[in-house]
Amino acid sequence: MERGTDIARAVAVLRRGGLVAFPTETVYGLGADASRDDAVARIFAVKGRPRAHPLIVHLAEGAHLDDWAIEIPDVARRLAAAAWPGPLTIILKRGPRVALATTGGADTVGLRVPAHPVAQALLRAFGGGIAAPSANRFGAVSPTTAEHVVADLGEDVDYVLDGGACEVGVESTIVDLSRGRAVLLRPGGLARAAIEAITGPLAVADVAAPAAPGTLASHYAPRAQVIAVAPADVPREVAAARGRVAVLAPASAFLAWPELGAIAHHLPDDVAGMARELYAALRDLDASGVDVVIAALPPAAGLGEAVGDRLLRAAGPRKNET
Ligand code: TXA
Ligand code: MG
Repeated sequence: MERGTDIARAVAVLRRGGLVAFPTETVYGLGADASRDDAVARIFAVKGRPRAHPLIVHLAEGAHLDDWAIEIPDVARRLAAAAWPGPLTIILKRGPRVALATTGGADTVGLRVPAHPVAQALLRAFGGGIAAPSANRFGAVSPTTAEHVVADLGEDVDYVLDGGACEVGVESTIVDLSRGRAVLLRPGGLARAAIEAITGPLAVADVAAPAAPGTLASHYAPRAQVIAVAPADVPREVAAARGRVAVLAPASAFLAWPELGAIAHHLPDDVAGMARELYAALRDLDASGVDVVIAALPPAAGLGEAVGDRLLRAAGPRKNET
């Protein structure tokens, strides 16, 4: 494994079918040539991810949409024009350039144009699509720095492009436009209101939607047990918890809890700041040997919907974890 800022080196690795971890505005991705089954197979092997779970294909710009998807509805073009580059993934019918392994055999593909300048430089220099899940082992917390990637994947990555800490901090919002009506598969870095302004009200994913690993209850989990509750319930949960207990909450919330009796981990008071720092906070708490993290749920508005979703998943049952 090498780590640096050399785009040409990263492109050379992709061209020979290797793996490049790269920063996006949401989280770091583990990338391979999206048109090559052999290259994409390595992603699944390294992540320990079931092969039926599809990967997102990253593109340099929305103008490339027709190379990677077919039967593109007009609403998808309008949404792409409004939201890309940015933290939104659109599910469409799969085009012929997408390797079958990339979509886990599905006839749809998730497409996204990331805004991060390093991701943009990489995609432009490479020219093709880059298939990339978050650059962590399956079921773990997504990486938001190059250090996180190295700690998780180490020698299994050929090159890590270092672009510093991710600005958004939670994964992209995923909207399925492949089946007639707009369905929200995962809340994320683009707030629901910005999408609904173009699509109209989003339906919630139902059983007919394809299984997405990000929708497993156990996903995005740190080692410590996570309990996610409304801020008012935090003191009661602290009193009931055993072991080394930490509270994860906006800084201002701690003013109401002068005698908390737990390790205090402050997040910013604004939801965008919470999203940006959430995963690093969970990693820090794990590293400090905490047994229980009691997290205060933010209001579901704006990025609060994604922060709450990730906290509740981290608090979910662990039986699906691999
Ligand atoms: O922000 C992000 O989306 C990051 C960065 C690297 O772009 N990527 C990411 O990838 O979070 P991953 O693989 O960790 O999560 C992608 C989610 C998975 O839950 C996957 O099942 C779903 O997207 N997905 C991808 N293609 C799909 C498809 N064709 N149909 C339904 N779900 C799909
Ligand atoms: Mg992931």
